[in-house]
Amino acid sequence: MFEKTLVLIKPDGVKRKLIGKIITFYEDKNLIISSLKMIRANDKIVEQHYVEHKDKPFFSDLINYLTEGNIVAMVIEGENAINLVRKINGATDPLTADMGSIRGMFGIEKQRNLVHASDNIDNAEREIKLWFPKVENEK
Ligand code: CMP
Repeated sequence: MFEKTLVLIKPDGVKRKLIGKIITFYEDKNLIISSLKMIRANDKIVEQHYVEHKDKPFFSDLINYLTEGNIVAMVIEGENAINLVRKINGATDPLTADMGSIRGMFGIEKQRNLVHASDNIDNAEREIKLWFPKVENEK
């Protein structure tokens, strides 16, 4: 199924100058980057983004991490884009992520894990609307 998904390159990915390498992983699998911007996110948008983790013990650390520097937000499109991007990113913990994945190759720790990608169709739609409000997302 042709799908859209939301990907964030987190502040550690930007600081470590991995933007180009990370985007190449997606493009090399024939996925399309259909929207892209660099932003410094505020607490409000990150709290909304991670609403399902709001009761987790690491929630406030996660907000601090995502707001500590610039991030790159992208909409990525293609056949089975949601699961394909998650496979390319690798498991949350770089220790268990496949070695050929972004986190397997470049990840150092579980929280600061370089990238985020939507985990299902509903979240993809919600996250795309959050980071790319309607007017900007219309072509
Ligand atoms: P992401 O795929 O963006 O989804 C939720 C994020 O929370 C995850 O990547 C990590 O950055 C972070 N995270 C998940 N599990 C943990 C954990 N056990 N401890 C700290 N951070 C975590």
